[in-house]
Amino acid sequence: MERRKFVKDTALAAAAFSIIPSVRLMANEDKKVKLALIGVGLRGQAHLNNLLRRNDVDVIAICDIDERMLGMATDIIKKSGKPMPQIFKGDPHAYRKLLELKNIDGIVIATPWEWHTPMIIDSLQAGIKYVGTEVVLGITLDDHWKVVHEAEKQKANVMMLENACYFRDVLAVLNMVRQNVFGEIIHLQAGYQHDLRGVKFNNGIDPYDSGVEFGEKGFSEARWRTNHSVHRNGDLYPTHGVGPVATMIDINKGNRFLSLNSFATKSRGLHDYIVKKGGENHPNAKVKFKLGDIVTTQINCANGETIFLQHDTNLPRPYSLGYRVQGTKGLWMQVNHSIYIEDISPKHHEWDDEKAWLEKYDHPLWKRWANKDTESAAGHGGIDFFVLHGFVEALKRRLSTPLDVYDAAAWSAITPLSETSIELGNETVDFPDFTSGQWMYRKNNFCINDEY
Ligand SMILES: NC(=O)c1ccc[n+]([C@@H]2O[C@H](COP(=O)([O-])OP(=O)(O)OC[C@H]3O[C@@H](n4cnc5c(N)ncnc54)[C@H](O)[C@@H]3O)[C@@H](O)[C@H]2O)c1
Repeated sequence: MERRKFVKDTALAAAAFSIIPSVRLMANEDKKVKLALIGVGLRGQAHLNNLLRRNDVDVIAICDIDERMLGMATDIIKKSGKPMPQIFKGDPHAYRKLLELKNIDGIVIATPWEWHTPMIIDSLQAGIKYVGTEVVLGITLDDHWKVVHEAEKQKANVMMLENACYFRDVLAVLNMVRQNVFGEIIHLQAGYQHDLRGVKFNNGIDPYDSGVEFGEKGFSEARWRTNHSVHRNGDLYPTHGVGPVATMIDINKGNRFLSLNSFATKSRGLHDYIVKKGGENHPNAKVKFKLGDIVTTQINCANGETIFLQHDTNLPRPYSLGYRVQGTKGLWMQVNHSIYIEDISPKHHEWDDEKAWLEKYDHPLWKRWANKDTESAAGHGGIDFFVLHGFVEALKRRLSTPLDVYDAAAWSAITPLSETSIELGNETVDFPDFTSGQWMYRKNNFCINDEY
């Protein structure tokens, strides 16, 4: 998502949230839940901000290994006027001490990707029944299986906090899909098309657009994410793209991903950026990046749909997730904000502006919860509010989370599978069935009403 806007959004959020009608956020207030956060970097702070604004949540503990991030997080807590949670820090396994607390109802994990699987597994083994993790679930296929097996063993919920599933346009289109406006769905496209050069490199102080350092000399994501571009070649961030379209075609709930293949271009963008900003003699100009600038992936689904995904983070470009949802009657193309439905669109072969369609089919969840204040206050245009709302409301009711461990595993598994496909010369590789056959019987209950 748009990281550059984060700091601005956070400040706006603090100012604006107080004018949201309190009755809304006080629904079910009697059922207060105690949450802990592992990782209060820039993303964890966004979650912290949103959680502190809820009357139904007590943040009782936070953990991080970076003093600066902890300082930023404690400033947010002080400003909120809420009690200071217990703080765990000092070493990379300090979170295990946090997990010894006996009164945690749920945990939110927002650490680097490589930490998600061990932190989820340890949380589940500590008896926590609601684990919300940032994208992605793990690194290897084995990681994904381990999380699925542990969640099943502990009868616990693992929800990947995929906020893109809650975009207002995405949910309106989901509503249209469910009302058969597009006919039978045939093909879907999406991607993570986000120029991350100014995130993958910085000066170790300012998070964005500030230098060409990474690793130990970098700050925030430059400290860890860039190493994945050095060592890995695949669709490293598939879930913002695939999550929303997977909910539209009932993946793991009557449908499933069967196989994929991936292609990667040569790698130029990150090297060129270092040379442009730091000069050709900068030591990082010698680094060889394995990640192709554009990785394209095709997925084949059990019910006959195909999905085309793109990962495009190293070249200059405006931000776009580029959703396309196409059926036997027509399609939505997010990139040109257009819809075309045969026999309904006024002009044959010409696009309609999506606006009237999206308003007509606005999802009940947005109709109920959104207002100007939530949109500006809750981050990423409101979706950060909705994803945490889903997690917290499910926890309060002790029901299944809106997105489950099978969604998280199948969507995240695209990364290791795409790496394998590229390594094998673009061979088509099979998806594991993380549901062990249950996909045939499970029902899609993602966002079926205005509750959460
Ligand atoms: N859904 C979205 O829109 C969105 C946006 C940004 C980031 N993210 C995801 O959020 C996660 C975190 O990203 P970020 O941007 O906050 O990165 P970040 O580097 O700013 O924050 C990560 C934090 O984790 C801490 N950490 C690392 N190892 C730790 C350990 N062993 N114990 C405790 N803390 C540890 C770091 O010190 C840092 O503060 C990633 O999975 C990222 O992909 C999602």
